[in-house]
Amino acid sequence: MLFARPKFLFIAAIAVMVLTVFGSACGDDDEEGETPTPSGATGTPAGLTGELEIFSWWTTGGEAAGLQALYDLYPGVCPGDVEITNATVAGGGGAQARQVLTTRMQGGDPPGSFQVHMGHELIDTWVTTDYMEPLDDLYAEEGWNDIFPQGVLDIVSFEGHPYSVPVNIHRANVLWYNKTVLEANNIDPPESFDDFFAAADTLEAAGITPLALGDVEVFAATQLLETTLIGSLGADDYNGLWTGETDWAGDDVTAALDNLKRMLSYTNDDHSSLTWDQANDLVINGDAAMTIMGDWLDADNTAKEFTDSGWVPSPGTSGIYDALSDTFGLPKDAPNPDAVNCWLKLVGSKDGQEAFNPLKGSVCARTDCDSSLFDEYLQSAADDWKSDAIVPSLAHGAAASPAWLGEINDAVTAFVTDEDVGTFQGRLADACVNADVCQ
Ligand code: GAL
Repeated sequence: MLFARPKFLFIAAIAVMVLTVFGSACGDDDEEGETPTPSGATGTPAGLTGELEIFSWWTTGGEAAGLQALYDLYPGVCPGDVEITNATVAGGGGAQARQVLTTRMQGGDPPGSFQVHMGHELIDTWVTTDYMEPLDDLYAEEGWNDIFPQGVLDIVSFEGHPYSVPVNIHRANVLWYNKTVLEANNIDPPESFDDFFAAADTLEAAGITPLALGDVEVFAATQLLETTLIGSLGADDYNGLWTGETDWAGDDVTAALDNLKRMLSYTNDDHSSLTWDQANDLVINGDAAMTIMGDWLDADNTAKEFTDSGWVPSPGTSGIYDALSDTFGLPKDAPNPDAVNCWLKLVGSKDGQEAFNPLKGSVCARTDCDSSLFDEYLQSAADDWKSDAIVPSLAHGAAASPAWLGEINDAVTAFVTDEDVGTFQGRLADACVNADVCQ
């Protein structure tokens, strides 16, 4: 089942929560788009001036390095004298940044462009509420309708119009490990929950924290919930959670939450005061053996020059790609829209994506990037993206509406402290009802 034929099961229908089957992530090589210039971006305006404010939560080593690579390319792609303001609000997963962004957008003070996850986060928060400009002309000019996979085009669009430009595809379900630590304890990288729990017992007996977690921002714990649900239920039943087809109150979900509770019992005691990248430091220095985190951790390892890292899909998720994407759009009444448009051209261009993604730990959203520019992990991720079953990330805005995710985040926060599976499952079941997806 896990190695089912390529099918792309990202949840795309935003308002009505209908499961949509993606087109091929590989794109259609036979179709011709507009011929790009050598820069990969076409028709760039000349003589741009003024300020361009780019808003994101990319502040850690690999995140900042990727963003800087785009900034460095901007003057070449967008001639003139634009001054870029790097407006960041720190905090993995972006919860704090989204709060600041919401205040600004609602107060009529939008940045030029901002980082936003494709799917529900983009559409429910900013598109259906009429805060964004459609980007049909830009997509047509740049030939992007032939360059991005159909499933990606679907999920950045509303009523047939694209509203943001995807710069990457991230994978959330990766177990990263310290190779030396596992080898020294005669442990093979765990593929199943049974493997994981056996490895964790061995590591604990050796005085090593089996699983590093840094959930000072709740996304890290919610992401552990999501990867455990995927690994326990499989792709189809996980997808059914977001359409009402899988029963949140059922025994299979209970078993998944039991797995999560057991996973949490193997984490570092100070997890609630660490960030995701501080948790990775525990793995890097050998105090912990493993961590489950999205592949922005690959970029963290690159930035920290840590080369002793191995990876496998998180327990039970081989053959499944838990996906999310960072995108940028054009807010209505954005200052300096010409400079923003050129930023968006860069973000969607081949050169831009080939510069950004190797540093950011993500694969291109485009289908034509040169794989030789990417490290071994990212090359394997790009292969998996083309062949795995694709499911939407909960923690990163793709699977559920922002309000539903907020309710799940609150339930997760309580669960990591009280560890009460029954109460947790009840809250999760209620959240689905409150989201009008379950009855
Ligand atoms: C995700 C985002 C990634 C990475 C991560 C940690 O939400 O999509 O690009 O930045 O948070 O901050």
